[in-house]
Formats: sequence, structure tokens, C-alpha cells
Amino acid sequence: MAAHLAGDIKIRELSKEEAIPYDLLLLADPSAAAISSYIHTGEIVVAERDKGIIATYVLVKDKVSAEIKNIAVHSACQGQGIGKALLHDAAQRAKEKGCKNICIGTGNSSIGQLYLYQKQGFEMVEIRKDFFY
Ligand code: ACO
Repeated sequence: MAAHLAGDIKIRELSKEEAIPYDLLLLADPSAAAISSYIHTGEIVVAERDKGIIATYVLVKDKVSAEIKNIAVHSACQGQGIGKALLHDAAQRAKEKGCKNICIGTGNSSIGQLYLYQKQGFEMVEIRKDFFY
């Protein structure tokens, strides 16, 4: 038996010529219209394993802050530390570009994600009522 670990993935920016991984983005955000509203405003970063894209995130930056608008790992590859590796990569990229902070939003009932984000150093700063309606 063999198990993949997050260490054997390559994380890189998606080039303009490559297809946008909508199948993955839709796992995190079921609204294609919402994805269209931010997909061209930031950097699309992907994680590759054996030359196949298995995870992605979208980082939108302004001068002082960055936001992870979407983060998704292929369902067959979840729970292997890839999400954690992507969050770390996003924080590094934001820092390199001079951002002072990085944020990510999710539903307040998404306990697993809240656990993951807090474990990776994110702190709860705001609850926006009816955001997803
Ligand atoms: N429920 C419980 N625990 C979780 C969950 C969950 N849904 N997701 C991650 N964790 C925990 C893991 O158990 C692990 O804990 P440990 O370090 O104590 O062992 C830790 O978080 C890290 O987990 P990873 O393996 O790095 O996470 P994964 O690779 O599965 O990626 C992600 C997490 C991105 C949330 C993935 O599950 C996914 O793609 N889900 C579907 C899409 C989604 O909901 N995206 C987020 C929407 S919000 C937004 O996009 C801004």
C-alpha cells in the first residue's frame, strides 16, 4: 500500500494559456457567477501531482492585504495536508508581495475549515450576517 503526502506536490502559478480549473473552484464556491466575478482579479495558483492539477487557490491582493477567495483540493486528495500546504504558500506569496495581512472567508457552520484556518494561524476577526444569501 502507498499513501501520497503533500510533500510530493508542486505548487505553481497557473499560466495564462492554461485552462482555469473550474471543476475544483466549484467545490469551494458553487456559484459560477461568483467565481467569474473574482477569477480574473487575482493570481490562480495550482498544486500538481504526477503532472495533473489536484488543488487550487485564488489570491487577490491590494497594496496592504490579500484574500484567498477560493481554495479547493480534489475530493480524492483531501485530508493529505494539501490544503495546509496551499494556505502556507498563499501566506508566503502575500508576504513576498508586501502584504501586511491575509484573510479568508467561510461559512460559520464550516467547522472543519474554521479548524484548519485557525490551526494555520488565521484568527477570526469578523462575522458578516447573511453574507451567503
Ligand atoms: N472537516 C474536518 N477537518 C478538516 C476539514 C473538514 N472539512 N478540512 C480539513 N480539516 C482538517 C484536517 O483534519 C487536518 O487536521 P490535522 O492537521 O489536525 O490533521 C487539517 O484540517 C489540514 O487538512 P488538509 O489535509 O491540509 O486539508 P485538505 O487538503 O483536505 O484541504 C479543504 C482542506 C481545502 C477545505 C478541502 O477539504 C476542500 O477542498 N474542501 C472542499 C472545498 C471547500 O470547502 N473549500 C473551502 C471553501 S472557503 C473558500 O474557498 C474561501
